[in-house]
Amino acid sequence: MQERLQVEADADAVAAVVAEHLQQALQNRQVLGLATGRTMEPVYAAWCNQLLALPAVERARRLACWRSFNLDEYVGLGASDPASFEAFMHRHLIAPLGLARHQVQLPDGLAADPQQEAQRYAMAVAAAGGIDLQLLGLGSNGHIGFNEPPCGSDAPCRCLLLSEATRQQNADAFGGDPAAVPQQAITLGTREILSARQLLLVVTGGSKAEILRRTVLMAPQEAVPASWLQQHPGLRIVADQAAAARLNLR
Ligand code: GLP
Repeated sequence: MQERLQVEADADAVAAVVAEHLQQALQNRQVLGLATGRTMEPVYAAWCNQLLALPAVERARRLACWRSFNLDEYVGLGASDPASFEAFMHRHLIAPLGLARHQVQLPDGLAADPQQEAQRYAMAVAAAGGIDLQLLGLGSNGHIGFNEPPCGSDAPCRCLLLSEATRQQNADAFGGDPAAVPQQAITLGTREILSARQLLLVVTGGSKAEILRRTVLMAPQEAVPASWLQQHPGLRIVADQAAAARLNLR
């Protein structure tokens, strides 16, 4: 596992490394799987800086190839709600880079039938040929996307109930009130995530040290959905020193 793990000094150094991978994938016209969350904010800022530093013609050429699918969205929230993942994508990538809205796909949190929307979304990913590079953050309870524990390795894209732990973890975006966090979300499943050709798990901060240890060092199991990632031959983990503190690295 250690050969698949890259440890950087801090979150900024992690962001620079991850942005470079994303830049390469974009240049190779790959289908991108994107994530939201605090971990991704410096990553997307670094990526935007790299892209905005290019000559305008070259930048336009690269951005024209952009095709991405986000992992998840809250049920009941749309772009007009600043806590939605669609609004997150607008703030951090779509607006700064001037992307066309159709280039950045997410599940529709306002769909009348969320379960049907999950099926539609899975089919849209499949129709694009699947995801080439899937970017992933790590939930404090071991979730990836919103695949809450317990979760097997073949769970499909679906609408599900969020755990109390996750609603606590994400309360900041809702004025600090866990009760204000939607109860349901639509997420790509472990099935679609593990079908991606390459996986890039990004973990920063000391609060993730214990869950990263369980993700990497325990046998793959339903109690830690991220532990299934170990079985993927194209997994790469980029972590900062604080997050890697319990991995007993030399
Ligand atoms: C959220 C998202 C995940 C994200 C994770 C970590 O709930 N559904 O896609 O990667 O939890 O979030 P953060 O980076 O804010 O710690």
